[in-house]
Amino acid sequence: MNNDDDGSLEGVVAAHTVLSEVDGAAGRLVIRGHALDEIAQRWRYEDVVALLFEGFFDPWPQADGLRAAIGRARREAFERLQPNDDALLRRLPPIEAVRALLARLPDGDDLPTALRLVAAPAVYTAAVMRWRLGVQALAPDETLPHAADMLRMLHGRTPTAAQGAALDTYLVTVCDHGLNASTFAARVVASTGAGLASAVLAGISALKGPLHGGAPGPVLDALDAIGTAANARAWLEEAVADGQRLMGFGHRIYRVRDPRADALKGALRRLGAEGSVDAGRLALAEAAEQAALAILREKKPGRALETNVEFYTALLLEALGFGRESFTCVFAAGRVGGWLAHAREQVRKGRLIRPQSVYVGPAPKDAAAPETPETPATPETPEPVLAH
Ligand code: ACO
Repeated sequence: MNNDDDGSLEGVVAAHTVLSEVDGAAGRLVIRGHALDEIAQRWRYEDVVALLFEGFFDPWPQADGLRAAIGRARREAFERLQPNDDALLRRLPPIEAVRALLARLPDGDDLPTALRLVAAPAVYTAAVMRWRLGVQALAPDETLPHAADMLRMLHGRTPTAAQGAALDTYLVTVCDHGLNASTFAARVVASTGAGLASAVLAGISALKGPLHGGAPGPVLDALDAIGTAANARAWLEEAVADGQRLMGFGHRIYRVRDPRADALKGALRRLGAEGSVDAGRLALAEAAEQAALAILREKKPGRALETNVEFYTALLLEALGFGRESFTCVFAAGRVGGWLAHAREQVRKGRLIRPQSVYVGPAPKDAAAPETPETPATPETPEPVLAH
């Protein structure tokens, strides 16, 4: 479908990419030749960054070299923090504080620039969340895996292997997803030649919205308001009757269950096995999910609305001790790998993204040609013709 009058660009193909394929009918996500199920449980985030980046940067390090380079980049990102950042940024919503810190990073198109941008959201999210608690930011430990170090910088202690693995599953699961709104924004900016930092800033700005990456915090708000499994149906029914959207449900592309929801549910179950998940919370979430799906089937019969990635994101990140106001920042820490690879892919195409619009505004009142002056004006230096 091409809804060219509703502004959604639904159904419009705007890029050919080697990076990921989202099959909305089958509920399948492929990341550069690997099914999500194959990599979500086993890969570290650094490995999926290597997969996404390969061929887009020259020179290219070995896989182990890339892991070490991301560790060094975390240290470099941390060293850029200024003594008064805490006071300046702690009152901003975390996503805005992280965006402000990312905006300081230098632009460029090379691998060191890209690795700095991969590393920085994890470092700055942990720092901002600690400042909000009134405690100092912690320096990275370059020797740890990226996900485990993000948890260590947040909590001040090395996470268990299961906790590190659960965050790796999350970051890998959300690393790329076709031409979603934030990736499209990043590609548009990259196509102007602005540089990778600018493309990432465009991406994070798009991610911030509640219809895209801002949904998981409100998922928890809804669970808190529902309170008990017995109350789920009544609460959710009232919300839909009130015209609200149920956060964590529905997707522009998926017409079946979002495969990322199951990858994250699996990570939650594994984390639960070591006692790191509140069983009552999980049971409430499962009851709310079933009630929401039933209500959406009844009330929106024309639209297949299923659980999306954000529902179990909320529960997983909560179990890992991230405050709900930081969830979009953690999403950015994963999606940044995809933004950067897409930005490089777009730059390699070498053309500006510049679609057209159809003017539907009023016609000029007087369409007559302006009078020609009797004395020709002195010729001036012509204005450069800009492609607006
Ligand atoms: N709850 C209730 N109704 C919904 C929901 C929902 N979660 N999602 C869509 N609908 C309804 C719409 O109100 C609309 O109903 P109507 O025709 O009676 O007006 C119908 O379903 C179709 O909706 P669309 O606007 O066409 O759906 P669209 O493809 O534009 O939206 C979106 C997709 C934005 C994700 C939507 O489903 C939504 O708002 N979900 C809740 C927010 C959310 O979870 N966002 C995260 C998405 S995943 C991600 O970006 C990482």
